[in-house]
Amino acid sequence: MASGTLDSSAGTAGVTSTQAGPAAGGRAAIGARALRTDNWRKAPILTVTLLTAWILYAVVRAFMQKWYFVPDFHYLTPFYSPCFSTACDPEASLLGQFVPDIPIFPYALISLPILGLFRLTCYYYRRAYYRSYWGSPPACAVPDLHRTYQGESRFPLILQNAHRYFFYFAILLSIVNTIDAIEAFHSPGGFGIGLGTIILVINVILLWAYTVSCHSCRHIVGGRLRHFSRHPLRYRAWGLVSKLNAKHMELAWTTLGTLLVTDFYIMAVSAGWISDLRIVG
Ligand code: FES
Repeated sequence: MASGTLDSSAGTAGVTSTQAGPAAGGRAAIGARALRTDNWRKAPILTVTLLTAWILYAVVRAFMQKWYFVPDFHYLTPFYSPCFSTACDPEASLLGQFVPDIPIFPYALISLPILGLFRLTCYYYRRAYYRSYWGSPPACAVPDLHRTYQGESRFPLILQNAHRYFFYFAILLSIVNTIDAIEAFHSPGGFGIGLGTIILVINVILLWAYTVSCHSCRHIVGGRLRHFSRHPLRYRAWGLVSKLNAKHMELAWTTLGTLLVTDFYIMAVSAGWISDLRIVG
C-alpha cells in the first residue's frame, strides 16, 4: 500500500485508498472527515466541560480568601496549603508566614502555580487538552483541526519537558498535604476524628497515588538501568509505580474530584453551612 493511503482491508471502517489524499507536511493526509463511526465527540466535549468547570471553581476558591480553615479541627483546604501569606490564620500557617498580604495574591501563592504547572505539563492532561481544547487531533483516527503539526519539539511546547522538575516540587507539596491530614486528627479537647479528617486522609492518599504514578516518577525509579537483576529494589519499586502508572488517567480525574470535595467540605464547615460530623472528640 502506498504511503499516505488507507485500504478498507486494513480495518478502517470502509475507507478506501481512493478516499485518502497525498501526504502533506510529512503527515498522512486523510480524505475522509473521520474514520470513526462511534460517538468520538463525547470524550473531548466532556473533557472541556469538566476541566473548565473545575478550573473556574479553583480560581474562585483560590481568590476567595475566606472559609479555608476550621480552627477547632485543624482542617485546612489543600487550595490554601501551605498558607504562607501574612493574612493567613496563624494556626493554619504551620510552615510560617512570609508572603506579604497583597489582595490580588492567593494565600497559597507558592503552591498553586507549582501544582497548576505540574498538572498542566502532566502527560495525561497534555493528551486531554491537546485533543479537547486544541483538536490536535480531537480523537484517534480523526483529522487534526490544524494544518501544521510540530509536536513538542519547539517553543513553547518544548517547555513541557520541565514536567520532571515540577514532579519534585509536587512530592514536597504532597508531604505538606500529608502533614495537614495528620493535623486534622484534632478536636478542641486534643485528639479527634471527624468526617473532615477522613476526607482529608482519603484525598492525600489519592494525591500520593497520582503523584507517584507520574511517568517522570516511573523513569526516575526504573529508568537508565541496563540490568534490573542488579537492582532488585528499584525493580520492585518500578513494578509498583508501573501498576499505578497504568491508572494515571483515572487518578488524574479522581484527584480533581477529591480536591474539590475536600475544599468544598471545609468551606461548608468553615462558613457554618454545616457542622462537621464528629466520630471522636
Ligand atoms: S505524567 Fe502526569 S503527573 Fe507526571
